[in-house]
Amino acid sequence: MEETFNTRKQILQEHEKKAQHKQHLKGKLTARERLSILFDDGTFEEMATFNSPYEGVSKSSEMYGDGVIVGQGFVQGKSVFAFAQDFTVQGGSLGKIHGEKIAKIQEMALKLGSPVVGLLDSGGARIQEGVQSLSAYARIFRNNVRSSGVIPQISVILGPAAGGAVYSPALTDFVFMTNKTSFMFLTGPDVVKEVLNEDVTLESLGGGQVHAEKSGVAQFLYDDEEHAILAVRKLLSYLPSNNYESLPVVKNFEFFQSKQEMLNKLVPEDSNQPYEIKDIIDILMDKDSFFEVHENFAKNLVVGLARLEGKTIGVVANQPKVLAGTLDIDASVKGARFVRFCDSYNIPLLILEDVPGFLPGVNQEHNGVIRHGAKLLYAFCDATVPKVTVILRKSYGGAYIVMSSKNTGGDFNLAWPSAAIAVMGPEGAVKIVNRRELADAEDPVALKAELVKKYRDEIANPFIAEEKGLIDEVINPSETRSKLVRAFQILSTKQLYRPSRKHGNIPL
Ligand code: HXC
Repeated sequence: MEETFNTRKQILQEHEKKAQHKQHLKGKLTARERLSILFDDGTFEEMATFNSPYEGVSKSSEMYGDGVIVGQGFVQGKSVFAFAQDFTVQGGSLGKIHGEKIAKIQEMALKLGSPVVGLLDSGGARIQEGVQSLSAYARIFRNNVRSSGVIPQISVILGPAAGGAVYSPALTDFVFMTNKTSFMFLTGPDVVKEVLNEDVTLESLGGGQVHAEKSGVAQFLYDDEEHAILAVRKLLSYLPSNNYESLPVVKNFEFFQSKQEMLNKLVPEDSNQPYEIKDIIDILMDKDSFFEVHENFAKNLVVGLARLEGKTIGVVANQPKVLAGTLDIDASVKGARFVRFCDSYNIPLLILEDVPGFLPGVNQEHNGVIRHGAKLLYAFCDATVPKVTVILRKSYGGAYIVMSSKNTGGDFNLAWPSAAIAVMGPEGAVKIVNRRELADAEDPVALKAELVKKYRDEIANPFIAEEKGLIDEVINPSETRSKLVRAFQILSTKQLYRPSRKHGNIPL
């Protein structure tokens, strides 16, 4: 018996040595090295180590673990399940046993209410195993869907994720990629050449940058594996382990007390002048707590997790620096997905608004901005978590409604004195409403300026919205943090019942 134990230990060591040699040559870590970064020191316990579809494989290190290490450990003291694919075993391809090992830990994690992290490095379905490999994928995908909204699921792509390997990540909550060493594609460059006669490289087809900036498949992009995996640890620190658990609370928090006054001056009076919304988020939230999600995709909307007095908050904010903060297709999809995530895990939402409207244009209309914009609208209307909106400056038209306005279910809707809430901006409104007067005017420029001022004073100002009950309070910017702390404190007991139904039909 002891001999068997020793032989197995030797197999693991031999395999790790070979794997290190192969992976390090490609600038990549081994599956085991990756897991040791993810978990608190020495806490990872491997499961099903010697499961194998091949007889006698326990005597060799060649097919070690069928190309995947699965198990459980602790991240900041919290139980987390993980799998790490081993590219040195048949390209990390997914066969029957490989797939079963992943499925078993998914099922156990769901039963126990623990997050699952997948570290992927795989050539996709193992070609030699045919339909068995495809059905193993199907079981994994189904588990992803069953776990969605119950336990956080995170995918980290650290090499190729080809074919079937891409759909599990796409079904999880967050996808991390590394620059230059990770790729995701359904069909590789060879197939693209064969079918379309187009030459593409792995990088230009499905590299980290492509998915973080263009397709939006990846929410996070890092230069190397270590930073990517450490960022997963950070992300987990904001999240509960499941949808029933309370949010984690950080006891020792600090905030920029001395900077609160700066908020009175950060938003330029000229409504066309851009500014950095993240400066405002940083001042409002606990010091260094803002962790941006989807940083490189649809930059006109900023979303991310932060802490307010140590408690997790989801922030959704228009970014006036990019496309003047307008909402477009990508921003709508990005925002909707984030709001749905926060709502699933009871993370309250803070909405910071400075939005001139939806981005106009044939391209947007033809690509379905109505359908995609509706996703964000649906997500906010459907979210039952506490929602607090602060209107900083522009809040026009459909975008006003969408961004968690009072009648979509906003719990507290606050505005700074600089806010302008209206069907459209003053310039556009005056051109339509006063067209005839302007055409007949002796001095149309002077008249226009006068009408714009009148519009601002009488229609597009926050005090009017406050009088009509559509803004709860116009506040001084410098008191925003204390107002938010109080609002979220009060809202912590919020309970909202919805009519019974199987599920709504979100405009997917
Ligand atoms: C079996 C595979 C494999 C696979 C790679 N290997 N992919 N074995 N099934 N899917 C093996 C290779 O034969 C090789 O074995 C070893 O892994 C390393 O592969 P290389 O090609 O030498 O590595 P590299 O040059 O780094 O290229 C990696 C790669 C490439 C880009 C991933 O291997 C590749 O294109 N693989 C096929 C990708 C693909 O089309 N997958 C889709 C499968 S269909 P040896 O013995 O030589 O070391 C699918 C459909 C499921 O997944 C749909 C579900 C929705």
